[in-house]
Amino acid sequence: VLAASASLAQSAWPAKPVTLVVPFAAGGPTDVVARTLGVSIGKTIGQTVVIENKLGAGGTVAAAYVARSAPDGYTFFIHHNGMATSTALYRKLSYNALTDFEYVSQAVEVPMTMLARKDFPANNFQEFAAYVKANQSKINLANAGLGAVSQLCGMMFERALGVKLTAVPFQGTAPAMNALLGGQVDILCDQTTQTIPQIKAGNVKFYGVTTKSRIKALPDAPTLAEQGLKDFEVVVWHGIYAPKGTPKPILDKMNQAIRIALKDPQVVARMTELGAEIVGEDKLTPESLQVWLKAEIDKWGPIIKATGTFAD
Ligand code: MLT
Repeated sequence: VLAASASLAQSAWPAKPVTLVVPFAAGGPTDVVARTLGVSIGKTIGQTVVIENKLGAGGTVAAAYVARSAPDGYTFFIHHNGMATSTALYRKLSYNALTDFEYVSQAVEVPMTMLARKDFPANNFQEFAAYVKANQSKINLANAGLGAVSQLCGMMFERALGVKLTAVPFQGTAPAMNALLGGQVDILCDQTTQTIPQIKAGNVKFYGVTTKSRIKALPDAPTLAEQGLKDFEVVVWHGIYAPKGTPKPILDKMNQAIRIALKDPQVVARMTELGAEIVGEDKLTPESLQVWLKAEIDKWGPIIKATGTFAD
């Protein structure tokens, strides 16, 4: 009877709205990706995808929450590089990033942009780097907490310049951007999914992109690497997960819905406009996400440890 009702539940899925947990503030980069995908996924599965912004501790509050959630097919999780970097940044996590989740798929990759408040006294990257080096004790850097990609980018930037700035953590880069626009913080490295409109409107100083090559959405913008930060590269990738034990037929249906969403012209147009790139077919399997996450943990772990950045 149990097996029969479980399989009935699976074939009836989804019988109610499905929640997609976002680990950062509403209106920010991860939220924009989640909501754009969510609308399209909802059309395919015939139920609303409800976005739940679960804030705190650089995304680890949300990850812990999803790890504890019922594996009934009604809770999914979208997270970025932070799923990997948090494993090195936090001495204690209440969940295991590699074993407490089911993997569904990757989705999009997003470049980052190095910004300062509009009246920051540097008009190009060379002036910016020189000013930051000369004034490091006075400069603050906004981020979305330990585990955020803004924190990862800021940390890599500090390492490249050999400086230590004052970190000002927010619960997402949506509030961090507001503080930058208001002039309360000096520097923010943030994803194009949020920054392109601000760059185009001239509301911030913009010093370059964090990708290896220039990007289509900002074709005139130089990379940080080509301006002297040798090998500097931070690309934001997204994984979609579910609590461990979520039935495979549901995971498969979600994977299908994501694949359809990533071909939805509305999703493609919105993502392209915001500088995000839909990942290739090879990154759309649960197995490839699992391998990718493990590789990212192995890649960033030693780099983060060498910076001595961690939380207890
Ligand atoms: C957000 O959505 O606020 C960002 O992804 C935060 C970050 O990781 O910098």
